[in-house]
Amino acid sequence: MEKKLKDGQKITIRKLRISDLDLFYNFLVNSPKARKFWRHPADYETASNYVNAQRYQIVATIKKKEVERILGFAAVTDQGGIGLAVTDEYQHRGIGTILMERLVEKAQKLKLEHLEFTVFKENTAVQFYSSLGCQICDETPDGHSYIMRLMVGKQNG
Ligand SMILES: CC(C)(COP(=O)(O)OP(=O)(O)OC[C@H]1O[C@@H](n2cnc3c(N)ncnc32)[C@H](O)[C@@H]1OP(=O)(O)O)[C@@H](O)C(=O)NCCC(=O)NCCS
Repeated sequence: MEKKLKDGQKITIRKLRISDLDLFYNFLVNSPKARKFWRHPADYETASNYVNAQRYQIVATIKKKEVERILGFAAVTDQGGIGLAVTDEYQHRGIGTILMERLVEKAQKLKLEHLEFTVFKENTAVQFYSSLGCQICDETPDGHSYIMRLMVGKQNG
């Protein structure tokens, strides 16, 4: 699926493939800011764990001079847990929102009632998720993170 960013650049949203190992490794290496809160080392083992994971995983990619690059990643588990990250250089251009919309569609297909995930309190992603209608419903026992929830059941609109 093709999407246009606010600045006119065209990106593709597609499933993450096992053959994306190098692209995903480069995504990790190029995203030190995003990894601070997403908590992953930039190594091949991490990249391999991601491309081989058995869950719904999508990426936002861009092609320049026939070279494809991963700009963003999102995943949802059958239980409604999510993962989301956009590479540093491409944050604040709407990619996170586009990826979240796809996760919501997938969650609805899985007949989930809500997505539920933890976010470190000092992570500005709290504002991002809130702007999309997610609500803080609790905090983790250590007090470091919020537990956030987004209702996705069709009955919720
Ligand atoms: C959270 C994250 C995925 C958002 O992706 P993004 O592509 O930058 O988000 P968008 O451009 O779609 O933002 C949409 C809206 O969310 C809000 N928002 C996004 N980032 C924000 C921030 N840092 N502070 C405050 N509001 C923010 C804004 O309202 C924004 O709209 P605007 O750009 O018109 O003002 C990205 O910042 C990221 O990868 N962070 C590091 C990894 C991470 O924390 N993941 C979540 C772990 S639970």
